[in-house]
Amino acid sequence: MTPPALTPAALTVEGLDVFYGASQILFGVGFTLREGQTMALLGRNGAGKSTTMKAIAGLAPPRAGTIRLGGRDIAGSPPYLAARLGLAFVPEDRQVFPDHTVQDNLEIAAKRGPAGEDHWTVPRIWEALPLLERLRGRAAGRLSGGEQQMLAIARALMGNPRILLLDEPSEGLAPIVVARIGDLLRGLRDAGATVLLAEQNMHFCLGLASHAVIIDKGHVVHEADIETLRHDEAIRSRYLAM
Ligand SMILES: Nc1ncnc2c1ncn2[C@@H]1O[C@H](COP(=O)(O)OP(=O)(O)OP(=O)(O)O)[C@@H](O)[C@H]1O
Ligand SMILES: [Mg+2]
Repeated sequence: MTPPALTPAALTVEGLDVFYGASQILFGVGFTLREGQTMALLGRNGAGKSTTMKAIAGLAPPRAGTIRLGGRDIAGSPPYLAARLGLAFVPEDRQVFPDHTVQDNLEIAAKRGPAGEDHWTVPRIWEALPLLERLRGRAAGRLSGGEQQMLAIARALMGNPRILLLDEPSEGLAPIVVARIGDLLRGLRDAGATVLLAEQNMHFCLGLASHAVIIDKGHVVHEADIETLRHDEAIRSRYLAM
């Protein structure tokens, strides 16, 4: 069987070194995210997943390396450039405006994509996430953690991004809510979205991501398709929480 043809690279990271003060956190991190791919960035607590995402989003400028997005090297550029080129980042702390309603949170985030894309509107969000529609008038600060995570993802979608970076969307949530977020991400994948998903939880990524990059102590230590990884006890026990 011939493997499916590779789609073009949406994001290429090479040789990233990131420091916080004097301590080096990332060491030559590199990988390629392809158009239409959902890829998992896996690693234990403190491995460097969030730092990698922050570097890509322009929030942790690297000391060395390149980040190619939309035909440009954006390493070290301010966050608005990545955003303008179609990158949306949902950080671990799910930033929403707590005093504003769910609907206002979505409307504030509305923006065309880099080529004028306007697929995502408030009615489309209600279609994709009926639960949020029922909460449309509620202040975001009064939502549960899972509802806030859905709202944070929905806010990112309202910007019609080309690439979505999600930092541990399943973290700290009840299994039923984690399943709903998995359904949402599978729906996005099936619609052709390009997603980089940081997770400690490999199980959340099964049936969702096609590939995984494993990061450990700031180094990329393994890359595999996710089904291979699922059966690779040795790698999993070495680099991932079981
Ligand atoms: N602002 C900071 N200043 C100094 N060190 C930091 C800072 N943020 C993170 N670190 C350190 O950088 C390393 C990588 O952290 P990072 O947050 O990228 O890991 P992570 O893989 O996202 O972990 P987690 O799964 O817990 O979110 C850790 O050793 C952490 O203590
Ligand atoms: Mg993190």
